[in-house]
Amino acid sequence: MSFREELQQITENRARLEEPLERHNTFRIGGPAEFYVAPRSVEETSQVLQLARAHSVKVRMLGNGSNLLIPDNGVRGLVLHVTRPIGTMEQRGNEVQCGAGVPLIQLMQFAARNGLTGLEWACGIPGTVGGALLTNAGTPAGQMGDSTVAIDIVDADGTIRTLGPEDFAFSYRKSSLRGSGRIAVGCTVSLQPADTETILQTIKTYNQRRLLTQPVGTRNSGCIFKNHPDHRVGQAVEQAGLKGKRVGKASVSTVHGNFIINEGGARAADVLELIAEIKDSLRSELGVELQEEVEIWNG
Ligand code: FAD
Ligand code: EPU
Repeated sequence: MSFREELQQITENRARLEEPLERHNTFRIGGPAEFYVAPRSVEETSQVLQLARAHSVKVRMLGNGSNLLIPDNGVRGLVLHVTRPIGTMEQRGNEVQCGAGVPLIQLMQFAARNGLTGLEWACGIPGTVGGALLTNAGTPAGQMGDSTVAIDIVDADGTIRTLGPEDFAFSYRKSSLRGSGRIAVGCTVSLQPADTETILQTIKTYNQRRLLTQPVGTRNSGCIFKNHPDHRVGQAVEQAGLKGKRVGKASVSTVHGNFIINEGGARAADVLELIAEIKDSLRSELGVELQEEVEIWNG
């Protein structure tokens, strides 16, 4: 049987061919995935990974697509979309075990309702728990790695197991899961007891700040660049006079200089050109080499 036939068999015909990926990312940009499936369970995820490996089909993981730029021509191979079916949440004392398909904000709200503090920083981050583990999502107030004590994974060969703290490492917007071929299917976070009202007040304060400082409600992918040790990129872009700069239907946010906005109908090529122009400009003005935080997929 061909890869396609076997994939349809495993997924009971739920796999899609040439699925438009612009539907599945917050930039609303990008062409189709050759093969696309949103597994219904961890076991199905494992079966699909084993099949892809047997057929040497490249697998890319997708969460909420809030840190991605997908090429206009789409991608070959399989896009494995970790969504709500992989999404149980369970409190055990001060710990919460959570599926990777759960929106990070829902995990934060679940913790708050149950009187657990430590995830308030997550408000306003539109990713899944899986994406947050991969990118070590965070703000100066905290990050995913701070509370993660176990990660449930499916290895590239389909093995389902749990990693302990000795098996993973987190740094600024990075985790050791990246590039490992492993899929995060869940994690356990360890939090501290606190008063729910106080937690909700902190979340409200963070939300208000974000509404004032970021282009909330637009099509974007969060900060495009990592902050440089000596420079806040948003500030540097502003000082370089690049806010509002436009290529096609993509523009540098006038609210925050480290965001690029899809004004409607922007192509990945427009965004890439804008990224190159910002990098060139800050290289010559400040002598710094910016590093992308947004992940740029190749076809
Ligand atoms: P995706 O963008 O879908 O994927 C990101 C990476 O994770 C990819 O490499 C993907 O292959 C991999 N991946 C996804 N799920 C899995 C999985 N289950 N197993 C293995 N690999 C997986 N980020 C911050 O850190 N701080 C912020 O304050 C912040 N603010 C944002 C505000 C806005 C408006 C937006 C649009 C984005 C913001 N981001 C921020 C960026 C983004 O939300 C985070 O990086 C988030 O963690 C990405 O999660 P995701 O589910 O969307 O992942
Ligand atoms: N600033 C400007 N002009 C701008 C933007 C910012 O002068 O256009 C100034 C601000 O006034 C402030 C400084 O730059 O003095 C830092 O700005 P901000 O507080 O907005 O934080 P940031 O460093 O730009 C980081 C994260 C964000 C996260 C916020 C939470 C990175 C790359 N960015 O932004 O994360 O939401 O802190 O405060 O680490 C993301 O990773 O996608 C992301 C959005």
